[in-house]
Amino acid sequence: LLPSDLRIIGLARRELSREEFIAQQYERLKTVIDGDAHWQSFADRLYYHCMDFSETEQYARFTRGWQPERMAIFYLATPPSLFGPICERLGEQQLLGKRSRVVLEKPIGHDLESSCTVNETVGRLVSEENIYRIDHYLGKETVQNLLVLRFANRFINTQWDQSCVDHVQITVAETVGIEGRWSYYNDVGQLRDMVQNHLMQLLCLTAMEPPSEFDPDAVRDEKLKVIRALAPVAPHHIVRGQYTESDDEVTYREDVGDPRSRTESYVALKCHVNNWRWSGTPFYLRTGKRLQARDSEINIVFKNTPHSIFGPDAGQQRNELRIQLQPNEGITLRVTIKEPGPGGMRLTDVPLDMSFAEALGDDADTPDAYERLIMDVVRGNQTLFMRGDEVEAAWAWTDPIIAGWEARGDVPKPYESGTAGPGDADVLMRRDGREWRGINP
Ligand code: BG6
Repeated sequence: LLPSDLRIIGLARRELSREEFIAQQYERLKTVIDGDAHWQSFADRLYYHCMDFSETEQYARFTRGWQPERMAIFYLATPPSLFGPICERLGEQQLLGKRSRVVLEKPIGHDLESSCTVNETVGRLVSEENIYRIDHYLGKETVQNLLVLRFANRFINTQWDQSCVDHVQITVAETVGIEGRWSYYNDVGQLRDMVQNHLMQLLCLTAMEPPSEFDPDAVRDEKLKVIRALAPVAPHHIVRGQYTESDDEVTYREDVGDPRSRTESYVALKCHVNNWRWSGTPFYLRTGKRLQARDSEINIVFKNTPHSIFGPDAGQQRNELRIQLQPNEGITLRVTIKEPGPGGMRLTDVPLDMSFAEALGDDADTPDAYERLIMDVVRGNQTLFMRGDEVEAAWAWTDPIIAGWEARGDVPKPYESGTAGPGDADVLMRRDGREWRGINP
C-alpha cells in the first residue's frame, strides 16, 4: 500500500548505524513480514539519524532536498512536553507546510493545563486537520466494529438506552506489569495511562449518539458530547489498586524501584453520562496491570422484563450483550429460554455466541491497530484520531479525580498479582446490588 518512493527515517538520541536500525526493525517485524523480497523492499526505505531534539541546528538536515509539494509525516512518539518545542523547530525550518502532518502519541499532556499548552503550541504551527492524535484503541478492529454493531443493526440501537440497559461494564484487564517503563509509568499511573484515553474512547463509542455520517468531525462531535456529559466521579465511586507480589512476580514498588510509591496500577470506577439517553444507567470502568488474564470487553447488561408472566420462582434472567475486544474477538448475547424438561416452567439463560475468527475464518485480514492508523494518516482520514477539544474535555474530567486523591493523601489498595484486583472494586459493585463479570478471555 505504500508509495514506491516513500522513505521512513528513524530519529532518536541513541547512536545507531543504519544497519543496526534495520536489524532492530527486522527483529520486531520478522513474524509479520511476508518473505525476504518484501522485507528487502521495506528495509530499503529505512534510514536512521541520531538526533537531539533540543538542538535547533540539527533540524536543518530535513531542509536539504525538501520538496514542499510532497507529503511529510512527523510522528512524535516523544514525551508530550517535547511536542510543542519540536513543532516550533520544524516551523522555523519551514517544514510545516500544507502537506505536512504531525502525529502525536498519547498521552497528550499530563493534565488539562499541559494538554492545552500542547494543543495551543502545536495548533499555532499546524492546522487541526493536519494533527493526528493517536489513541491506538481506536485502531483496533473490534473497537471499530462497535460502531458498526451499533449503527448498522437497527434492533440493537432501539434497545440502547436507559429504558432497557441496567448498566454497562467496560473492562481492560492486562497481565503485563510495567515492562521496564517505570520512569514514565510511576509519574502517570493507570488513570492517566489507560482511563483518560483508552477506556474513555470505549465509553464514548458505547454511549454516543449516532453521528449523521461516518465523517471525522461528525464522529468526534458526538464523542465530545459524551465526555462533556460525564458527571464528576464521587470519591466513594472510585477504587485505586497497586499490585503486590505473587509466587513468581515482584511488587509494583519493586518494579518501579520506589518503596513508597502511591501510583496506582489499577482503577475501578462508577460514572454517569448525564444526558437523556443514559440518565440513571451507570457505567462501571475497570482496568489494571498484572491481573489474572488479558481481557478487554464491554458488557451491556439489560434490565429485566417489566413483568414476569412465569412468576417469581421461574428464575428470570437478564439479557446481556458481551462485546469481546481482545483477545478472541467476538460477541455473545445471553438470552433466556425454557429449561428443558417436564414439570413447571423454569427459565435459564444460554449464550448466542459468535467468535469473529469462526464466523469470518482465521484468515480474516485483521491489521494491527497501528497499521490501520498509520495508513489513515497517509490517506488523511482523521475519523479514528482524537481532536484537541476531546482530549481537553477528557482531562477536565480526570483532573479533579487526581486532585481529590492528592488532597486526601489516598493510598492505593494492594492486590495480589494474578487476581481480579482489589476487593474494594467488588464492594463498589455490591453496594449497587451488581457484580463484575469474570475476567475471562
Ligand atoms: C498503552 C499503555 O497505551 O496501552 C500501556 O501505555 C498498555 O500501559 C497498552 O499496556 C495496552 O495496549 P494493548 O493494545 O496491549 O491493549
